[in-house]
Amino acid sequence: MHFTINQLNLHGEVLGPERGAPILCIHGFPLSGALWRPVADLLDDQYRLIIPDLRGFGASAASDEASMRLYVEDCVALLNAIGESRPVTVAGMSMGGYIAFEFFRRARDRMASLVLIDTRPGADSEEARKGRLATAEKVLAQGSAVVADAMIDKLFAPNAPPDLKRRWRNTMAGANPRGVAAALKAMAARPDSTPDLARIDAPTLIIVGEHDLITPPAESKAMHAAIARSVLETIPEAGHMAVVEQPRLVADALRRFIAVG
Ligand code: MLT
Repeated sequence: MHFTINQLNLHGEVLGPERGAPILCIHGFPLSGALWRPVADLLDDQYRLIIPDLRGFGASAASDEASMRLYVEDCVALLNAIGESRPVTVAGMSMGGYIAFEFFRRARDRMASLVLIDTRPGADSEEARKGRLATAEKVLAQGSAVVADAMIDKLFAPNAPPDLKRRWRNTMAGANPRGVAAALKAMAARPDSTPDLARIDAPTLIIVGEHDLITPPAESKAMHAAIARSVLETIPEAGHMAVVEQPRLVADALRRFIAVG
């Protein structure tokens, strides 16, 4: 479905029964809601899956303006547009996790529980920030393949099927350069969420691919130690893209977590 926020036309998918426990599924960078499809297809018998294409990604219009705050406002606007007033499980993968932290800070009352997948709480170092801004300029000049080619070898477990990698490389290369550049700047400006970890009072599931090179398992272990009501699930034979590398294991982890929660 399409909805409008501040004249920006955004897109999101809503799957599963309306009365099912709602899960807001936030994708990573530079991806789209399609990231969640394999997991959603395993959960849509029971849960209501709400899957935005963040501004500038998938079928959502691009905007040169983006920030963790705006991404959260877009997600909340989608919840409102579909009439979802119950608190939701907020599940974010990587950049989606950065957005989930911001969701906790801004809209705790709309959050039933939190799922952090292949992500980290820390902000960028000064060097990483400069790198992001330089990459944003490059993407605007040369296109999103710049980012896709720089990332692809770090995203998957060593034994990931080549056609899976190729498919996602092509999806990333096809992303709208304006959306990608805006997201790079938004990530560069994101706050450090580490001080918030001790304040997170929602039941929290942390998922990490055992071979994740971008947000390594040590980051997830540290989050697990810092978030009081958290459980940690490490996904075998998966890297940073555990959601598409091992969708069944990720879906099973979500089911177990929500059943207990
Ligand atoms: C992602 O997967 O969303 C990105 O790798 C996050 C990042 O670049 O920090």
